[in-house]
Amino acid sequence: MSDIFQTAPDYGHFNGDFGGSANEYDLSKAGTSSVTTSQVCFQTPPTPAPRTTRNFLKYVTPSAAASKILIQLVLAKQRRYPYGSLTYCFLRQCVIDGTDASEGLLHSSSLSNQGTIQETVMTRLRDTLPAAMLFLVAATMMLVLANSKAQSKQEKRPFGKTQDGQPADLYILTNNAGFEVAITNYGGTVVSLKAPDRNGKMADVILGYDSVTGYENGKAYFGGTIGRYGNRIAHGKFVMNGATYTLAKNDGENHLHGGLIGFNKRVWNAKDVSSIAGQALELSYLSKDGEEGYPGNLSAKVVFTVLADSNALKIEYRATTDKETIVNLTNHAYFNLAGQGNGNILGHQLTLHAGKFTPVDAALIPTGELRSVRNTPLDFLKPLAIGPRIAQDNEQLIFGKGYDHNWVLDRTSAEALSRAAEAYDPQSGRVLKVSTTEPGIQFYSGNFLDGTIHGKDGKIYPHRSAFCLETQHFPDSPNHPNFPSTVLKPGQHYRSTTVYEFSTR
Ligand code: GLA
Repeated sequence: MSDIFQTAPDYGHFNGDFGGSANEYDLSKAGTSSVTTSQVCFQTPPTPAPRTTRNFLKYVTPSAAASKILIQLVLAKQRRYPYGSLTYCFLRQCVIDGTDASEGLLHSSSLSNQGTIQETVMTRLRDTLPAAMLFLVAATMMLVLANSKAQSKQEKRPFGKTQDGQPADLYILTNNAGFEVAITNYGGTVVSLKAPDRNGKMADVILGYDSVTGYENGKAYFGGTIGRYGNRIAHGKFVMNGATYTLAKNDGENHLHGGLIGFNKRVWNAKDVSSIAGQALELSYLSKDGEEGYPGNLSAKVVFTVLADSNALKIEYRATTDKETIVNLTNHAYFNLAGQGNGNILGHQLTLHAGKFTPVDAALIPTGELRSVRNTPLDFLKPLAIGPRIAQDNEQLIFGKGYDHNWVLDRTSAEALSRAAEAYDPQSGRVLKVSTTEPGIQFYSGNFLDGTIHGKDGKIYPHRSAFCLETQHFPDSPNHPNFPSTVLKPGQHYRSTTVYEFSTR
């Protein structure tokens, strides 16, 4: 059996498909595997299943009747040793016959878990590995784990106090290439992101404020974690199981981005969860039953990781509830790849991997239709500059005052990360690639920015001086049964992952 991991891409290289290799095994056809994504993780028919997969399986014990197991592993690193090679994998998700078994794995696993399941470190040994070497391997693994703890030196600085006296901090996550992301636990907000241009010159490419006060007073949602429901819910109303729920109205007649005090205006608990994958910050927030009108106590977690081996920020959202509720979490970072406060983004070239979008009415509420982008100025299937078509006489652009729509992503899998968008700034050469597990993305062209906001380092932010790519379920889904559901029930686990990767051209 060839060593499949020899050819598997390293964690740091996003060759087409990033990480999350989804491998579906049809157990009824013993000895054959059907690899359903374009990313080949296991090249040979597994007889029996490849060892890494089996390692995971022994902790989840699928019932004999289980017919389909979906396992998503993220390859972290491969190391060669004289006695063989070790591959470190993180588990992203394990679904047995449609039921999420990842949490069970977390609890039953005797392996070291670093706070969250996706941080579980697994090994794969060569098939020929002598049994005696197992001890050596175990010892090596412990060393690796010990090192990963030691690497977790993220910087923390005070970021000011809220008006009611709560202190907020700024956490600086970096990798060895100097890529740096600063996050505050006020609002789970990405405050700055420094990436190199084609000459290696660093610039902060997201809009924001210098301290917590700016975020408290701000209305633009700069860099914030948006919840409990990202984007709009018509009339702040939805019906679930026959009961009508009324949410706060903060956008005319409608509910927007979680209401009057959304997740972006709350103070979150912070924990350093760095590992060999990179420096990482876990933020958690308990949204109480009834907050902004939503039912159920929702326990939300967001893990921000600056990947060790590439200039990428991974954001993982998790949530559970004690009553049936709705959830749609996202991040509202405003990007300007030329640097924050450095002109408008109309010359940036954008690609959206989406053949359809959800048209809206004048209040930006989806009509329910999924419409083709063909022959419309919303077609970004091929890279095109943002500016040239933005002022066209098109009803959707008039309603949005520019681009402010949800695109329906063309995905190959409902669980794995798929490439959603790319933005390129010809001036600086910076490229942003967005991958997500979500079905939709809101491309917002900064239409409400009007030069009145004074942001970081004294910069002002003129009209369309940034764009947002908010990965999400579709706006107003609770009122559109034909949209993918945003309902979360007790016992279920809400999971969503988005990766923002930076490079240059
Ligand atoms: C989202 C919305 C926009 C606007 C911005 C924040 O992108 O769709 O209409 O509210 O957030 O200003």
